[in-house]
Amino acid sequence: MMGRKILLALLACFLSSAAAADGDAATGKAVFARTCQNCHAVEIGVNKVGPSLWNVVGRAPASVPDFAYSDAMKANKDVWTATALDAYLADPRGDVHGVRMFFKGLPEPSDRADVIAYLQTLR
Ligand code: HEC
Repeated sequence: MMGRKILLALLACFLSSAAAADGDAATGKAVFARTCQNCHAVEIGVNKVGPSLWNVVGRAPASVPDFAYSDAMKANKDVWTATALDAYLADPRGDVHGVRMFFKGLPEPSDRADVIAYLQTLR
C-alpha cells in the first residue's frame, strides 16, 4: 500500500513538472500579444522599442543588427535557450542587471512556458 502511494506521488510530481516545461504555443501567442507586442515585433528585421524576436530561441543575446542594445545586454553571453529565456522572463532586470527592458516579468511559470513555446515557432 505504502509503495503505491509513493509511486502515485512521484507520478503526480513528474506530470506537473512536464506540464510546466511543455508550453502551449497558441496560448503563448495570446500572452505575447498582451504583454510583449507593444515593444517587440516577430517579423525579421522589424525592431520596435525592443529588438525583433524572430528566431530568438537558440540565438546569441544582442545579435539583431541595427538594434541599439544596452551594454548590459551586450555583455550577456548566455545563448537564449528555453532555460535562459525562462529565467530572463521571470525577472528581466534581476536576471540581466542594467538591461533596458522595462517590463516587470511574467511571474506565472505556465505563462513563461507558453510564451517560450510560441517563440519556438518563430523560425
Ligand atoms: C516595455 C517594452 C518591453 C516589453 C513589454 C518587453 N520587452 Fe523584451 N526587450 C525590450 C528591450 C528594450 C530589449 C533590449 C534590452 C537591452 O538592450 O538592454 C528587450 C530584449 C528582449 C530579449 C533579448 C533579445 C536579444 O536579441 O538578445 C528578449 C528575448 C525579450 N526582450 C523577450 C521579451 C518577451 C518574451 C516579452 C513579453 C513577455 C518582452 N520581451 C516584453 C523591451 C520590452
